[in-house]
Order: sequence, then C-alpha cells, then structure tokens
Amino acid sequence: MIHPGRERDIGQYRIEREPFYAEVRGEVGLFSIAARNKMPVMLKGPTGCGKTRFVQHMAYRLERPLITVACHEDLTASDLVGRYLLKGQETVWMDGPLTLGVKHGAIVYLDEVVEARKDTTVIIHPLSDDRRVLPIEKKGQILEAADDFMLVISYNPGYQSVLKDLKQSTKQRFMAIEFEYPSPEIETTVVEREAGVNQALAGSLVKLGGKVRNLKNHGLEEGVSTRLLIYAGTLIRQGVPAERACDVAIARPITDDPDMQRSILELAKAIF
Ligand SMILES: Nc1ncnc2c1ncn2[C@@H]1O[C@H](COP(=O)(O)OP(=O)(O)O)[C@@H](O)[C@H]1O
Ligand SMILES: [Mg+2]
Repeated sequence: MIHPGRERDIGQYRIEREPFYAEVRGEVGLFSIAARNKMPVMLKGPTGCGKTRFVQHMAYRLERPLITVACHEDLTASDLVGRYLLKGQETVWMDGPLTLGVKHGAIVYLDEVVEARKDTTVIIHPLSDDRRVLPIEKKGQILEAADDFMLVISYNPGYQSVLKDLKQSTKQRFMAIEFEYPSPEIETTVVEREAGVNQALAGSLVKLGGKVRNLKNHGLEEGVSTRLLIYAGTLIRQGVPAERACDVAIARPITDDPDMQRSILELAKAIF
C-alpha cells in the first residue's frame, strides 16, 4: 500500500549551492574515483579540520544527495535501517536514513562511526564490500544498493582507546583519506573566507593556530581546529578584542588546564 507523504523525500538531501571547500591534498580526485568505482571511504582526522564540509562539497560535485548521521552510543541498527511505526490503526514501515540512501543512490555519511554500538557497525559490512546489499531483517528483505549509493564514515584516531576502536574487519573495507590541518596558506584562505576577515588577520590567527598545535607535544590533547580559528576571527570581526576572542574561542574550548590556557593566551598576546 502506498502512503503518500509518508515516504521521506530524498529531495531535501540534495545540496543546491556549492559549499566552499579548499582542497588540501588531492582528496577531491581520490574521492571522485572512489565514488565512480563504488568504493566506501573513511575520512580520518581531528575534529574541525573540514571533513563534513568536504563531504558536502563532494555530494554537490557528484550531484548525489547527502544523508548525514551523527553516530552516538545509543544508535541502534533500527535507527539506521528503519522500523514499523504505529499510525492510528495501522503499522507503517518507515525507512531509516541508511535504507533511504541505499534506495535512492545517496552518499550516506556516518559521522564518528566509532561511537555507534558494535551491532550497528556490523550492518554496514555487507554494504561495504562487493555485495553492496542491506539486509532489512524486520521485513525479511535484502535491498540491493543503487549504483550511486556511497558509504562514507568519519573517524578520529586521536580519540580512540582500546575499548573504542573500529574493528579491523570494519576498517579494512574502506579507503582512508587522511585529513590534517591545512597548510598555512590554505588555512588562511579558509579563515579569511569563512570568518569574513582580512588576510592579515586570518594569517595571524593561523599563525597562532600553528603555535597552539605545537603545544600538543606538551600535554595538549588535541590542537586547535580550523573551526575554532574561524570562530575567533568572527568574534574579532564583530568587535571583540583579539585577546578576548582568542581566550573564549581557542584557549577555553580546547583545554581545562589553567596553565595551558595561560600559555595559549601568552602566544596570542605575542601575535596580536
Ligand atoms: N579545507 C577547507 N575548506 C573550506 N572550509 C574548511 C576547510 N577546512 C575547514 N573548513 C572550515 O572549518 C569548519 C569546520 O569543518 P568541518 O568540516 O565541520 O570539520 P570536521 O567535520 O572535520 O569536524 C567548516 O565549517 C569550514 O568553515
Ligand atoms: Mg564533522
């Protein structure tokens, strides 16, 4: 039975305008080849370095819908695949995001996939080898993926512990594109554009970013993200004094250690 309006509309997942993305190391070409050859891709790298923006950009370029799922520890297989819902007197099947993407040839992006429960990662296995099928257990169906369907996952190796790591059997199904912070030139362009600040200011923020990232060897858990540099730039553009902007957008978010926060502020003072 067809229930008009109940089927989720794939159109809403299309990206109409090109998301700005500055290429760092040939990732656009690699991803395009993977897409053409039905190869699943893993984006590896620290937070805020452009992974999400990159997938949005690629979905636009490849003219495929993009369905993003933020993975978390309560994410079940049904959340991805779908479930029967009670609507008045009848039960209707509701496709989950993965099923929707598999049917309609979308890029399905599982963000921070390592957060998801182990049984959840298992259901992506038959989709990420040459079978390209999704078993829908509750319906007793096996769904073949549309040609344009592509599975993309993100993964931050910096956070992983022994308890929380992707299994080799999962890892070894994906081509992995490594994301790092962009070179100073590219990162300056990104900060300039995204924060709407001039090149000199963007350059100073990127310089500070480089120095803060060096603190990683001195006890900082993770370097400052491009995203935070953009926040700092945005605050400065809005009239917040540079030092204060660096405090609230860089020093405070990345560490709780007062000594480390002070060190970061000293670096900011020296630059601004
Ligand atoms: N190479 C890049 N090109 C364009 N914007 C970028 C780039 N890298 C980072 N950014 C900017 O940084 C922000 C954070 O990136 P995002 O893709 O959300 O990071 P991630 O998904 O890796 O955590 C983006 O919103 C974008 O403004
Ligand atoms: Mg992201």
